[in-house]
Amino acid sequence: MVNLPNDIDARDVFRFNSPESLTGAFTVPGDKSISHRAIIFGSLAIGETTISGFLRSEDCLATLEVMRSLGVDIDDRGDEIIIQGVGLHGLQAANKDLDCGNAGTAMRLLSGLLAAQPFGSTLVGDESLSVRPMGRVIKPLSEMGAQIESDEQTAPLTFKPATQLKAIDYNSPIASAQVKSAVLIAGLYAEGTTTVTEPHKSRDHTETMLAGFGCDVEVNGLQVSVKGLPQLKGQRIQVPADISSAAFLMVLGLCHTDADFVLQNVSINPTRDGVIKILQAMGGRLTLLNPKNQAGEPVADIRVQSSKLHGIDIPIELIPSAIDEFPVLFIAAALAHGETRLTGAEELRHKESDRIQVMINGLQLLGIDCHELPDGAIIRGGQMHSGLVDGSGDHRCAMSFLLAGALQPAAHIAVKGCHNIGTSFPVFFELIESMGIAVEQPVPVITVDGPSGVGKGTTSALLADHLNWHLLDSGAIYRALALKAELSGVATDDEAALVKLASQLQLEFAVGAEQSTQVKLDGQVVNEALRSEANGERASKIAPIPAVRAALMQRQKDFQQAPGLVADGRDMGTVVFQSAHLKVFLTANSAERAKRRFKQLQARGVDVKIRDLLEDIEARDLRDSTRKVAPLVPAADAHVIDTSELSIEQVLAQVIHLVRQHIHLSDQD
Ligand code: S3P
Repeated sequence: MVNLPNDIDARDVFRFNSPESLTGAFTVPGDKSISHRAIIFGSLAIGETTISGFLRSEDCLATLEVMRSLGVDIDDRGDEIIIQGVGLHGLQAANKDLDCGNAGTAMRLLSGLLAAQPFGSTLVGDESLSVRPMGRVIKPLSEMGAQIESDEQTAPLTFKPATQLKAIDYNSPIASAQVKSAVLIAGLYAEGTTTVTEPHKSRDHTETMLAGFGCDVEVNGLQVSVKGLPQLKGQRIQVPADISSAAFLMVLGLCHTDADFVLQNVSINPTRDGVIKILQAMGGRLTLLNPKNQAGEPVADIRVQSSKLHGIDIPIELIPSAIDEFPVLFIAAALAHGETRLTGAEELRHKESDRIQVMINGLQLLGIDCHELPDGAIIRGGQMHSGLVDGSGDHRCAMSFLLAGALQPAAHIAVKGCHNIGTSFPVFFELIESMGIAVEQPVPVITVDGPSGVGKGTTSALLADHLNWHLLDSGAIYRALALKAELSGVATDDEAALVKLASQLQLEFAVGAEQSTQVKLDGQVVNEALRSEANGERASKIAPIPAVRAALMQRQKDFQQAPGLVADGRDMGTVVFQSAHLKVFLTANSAERAKRRFKQLQARGVDVKIRDLLEDIEARDLRDSTRKVAPLVPAADAHVIDTSELSIEQVLAQVIHLVRQHIHLSDQD
């Protein structure tokens, strides 16, 4: 038998409820790009640098730890970070690999720095970062004389001790602030002037901050130059709120029916404000208040008011200044009226995930009419329905889908793959709660649907037993109601009385002997009575009554209790638990199911003809799959397993394999 840890949990799955109104003033944390740069330049300066408003996210803390490993004294006092700069040439070799975690910015900016050091080092990252393209920095840095080793132009990156780097004039094929910054940082170590020219303007924090630290920087349109070997001087840096984090709340407010709130002190740097321009072009009411300049960076408060958004063709020239905001802009587009079209944004496929694919997959699962383009997407606004969406471990995709859930009160949208939210927005959940949005961690549910005779009852009972989870045999609920009706003298067409009985049903399920599910009605084991032909007949009469199904809905949902639920039936994945964490649909050909039923009945001493059973099964399949209420069909996101040729152990092994893939196992931390 397959072994599975008993402590599966769903710490990685969240759901937001819908607030009635959104008002007040909120402050999102500090800017990620500025925080990374403040740590690096503060370390390379002479004297002390003090950073306030530093983004204490996993990404920026990774940069901080790398600089510490390179011998820089960095005092993290919580509200302030104090760096004793060592000067351009004061770094020391680290005695271990330098871990950038999930942070692409850390890896690419630090590549520029390590490429120029007289000692060797190695940069490593997590699984997502290890497949992101690094050739874009390796190429220009190699032109400058750096020696960098990597397999397939991805991390780990190993830097050989550098001799003197050469200043270059680099024409970057892409508008990337990370590439530009890597070259400019290496340029600090080259004699003469290093220039980067971009096809479009990318964010300019490196050049702005280097100038603030006293470096000779020249900006000429799309061209930025630094003069090598400067003396950087320690600074006081106040990091403004990150517009990329504020963007989530902008979309939340604009798409909510009753919102009017202010986001305080947000960076509105013109190389970063594309999201404001795009949302305004979609009809979003965003008003900039109290604009001012803070350490070279323009900031303002942003008033966000409920709006009626409409789709647009996103102007290509706005893409670089909104590059990180497309996940949440896709949500805005999905909730807007009409069609939004994005092209020219192939770069989104190389972020923490392939953001075009992850967002379109999720939106399609939620019923939105949309599709991918090689370099963008087309999204038609509509109503989302319930579902469990995969944020794919990409912080911005996960946050975007969570907010979609808060904006669709009629749908039950849960999001998995949320574990990297702390890389950019460490207080996301706290801030969301401070806005009056309840954050739930739904108890995980696995649904096992399929026709009778397919093995779903046994599979579910064994799985529940393995996981030590609760078990719901929903078919038995209908049969139990039928039995209760019979015992209470209620007719199978007395809707009102049936609905009342449904709400009072005292039911329990347990795994009994011989892998069977034991059903207790009012404390009594009633398996035999439930299975009688007469009771089956009664159940099939009451099950299609919509009022009965509705009344039993909550009864079934009540089974969703910690640590988890395995629910077996016919509409578990399509109707009752639409946002189940894992949906399995078992099928088998009718001949095989007739054979299995025949064996079961024979064992119980019931004399039947296999041919009659086959006819019954086929007639029932047709009725079940074509009935109006909760027809028997696999959910769009169900994993279909054909059990015709499989033993029960093989079916269970396949389901357990799916559980391992789709549900976070705490022993894999
Ligand atoms: C960043 C630049 C952008 C952006 C990233 C942060 C930076 O990446 O997506 O989140 O701080 O320089 P590219 O330079 O790859 O476009």
